[in-house]
Amino acid sequence: MDEGVRSLLERFPSERTWLLPALQAVQEIEGWLSPEALTAVADHVHVPPSEASAIATDFDDGLRLIKPGSHLIRICTGRSCRLTGATDHLRVLEDHLGIACGRTTSDGRITLEEADCLSACSLAPVLEVDGACHGCVTSAAIERFPMWFRTRRAWHVDVDVSDFPKVHAEGQTARERLADLRAQAAARMSGRPAFRFLVQGGTCGEALGAGELVRALRLMAAMRGLAAEVLDGGCHGMCSAGLVVEVQRAGWPPLTFTHLTKDDVPDLLAEVAGGESPLMRFAGVAFLRHLATRSSRASAG
Ligand code: FES
Repeated sequence: MDEGVRSLLERFPSERTWLLPALQAVQEIEGWLSPEALTAVADHVHVPPSEASAIATDFDDGLRLIKPGSHLIRICTGRSCRLTGATDHLRVLEDHLGIACGRTTSDGRITLEEADCLSACSLAPVLEVDGACHGCVTSAAIERFPMWFRTRRAWHVDVDVSDFPKVHAEGQTARERLADLRAQAAARMSGRPAFRFLVQGGTCGEALGAGELVRALRLMAAMRGLAAEVLDGGCHGMCSAGLVVEVQRAGWPPLTFTHLTKDDVPDLLAEVAGGESPLMRFAGVAFLRHLATRSSRASAG
């Protein structure tokens, strides 16, 4: 077995539940799942190779059972991209390359794949060439595709085994190991600052000024002496209510605030740090998830 795969698998417990994460990790470092890698993962988590193979085949997004070519084109065929012409782009590229989607040209140079949403919907249609994302792709750009690779070096995987954390759980039974994992997670949480702000990311967030909001939150939290970490929270799934910020604090339900700008940051911090029932001045307070669920249950009862 490949040494890299072996040392990667040592980072995962030998349990069936880790089958999919282990397959994904192996693909991250190898670029694909060879038959040998599938067998190695299956052996490691004590399942038959056929089960590993079935999971790799059925998993919708991105497990690759064929070695990719020197260059990799992935066309997003998520909903936004479909509505803006991605499938037409795909057909044109298939014609030009003389291969079906999911295949590699006979000279081993170019692989063409579909991808699920690449999380850049506001730039649809989107495609990825050798790991670089391109948005608002026009038919004219697709026609110029032979030029894409003139100066481009071959695609390579730049993920290393050390990028993966070691998952160790102590205990004789699954219940004990789960308890150990929970304790580890609790210990990590207790080392965090009191507040955590997850700012809407993705292309919608960027378009609305998420970068400025993040900078303002970090700066003003520091000026107030507030122990806080401010992170890119990715897409919150509420793109039309941006900018969205989720505030987390131990003992609180997660609070989701919508329609924020950087100008709201002083008031947001003042009220959050005040610990009061938060933020009535913000028309965009979306919900207190847990409390809303409880009160709606109470009124239903
Ligand atoms: S649907 Fe293509 S980026 Fe989201």
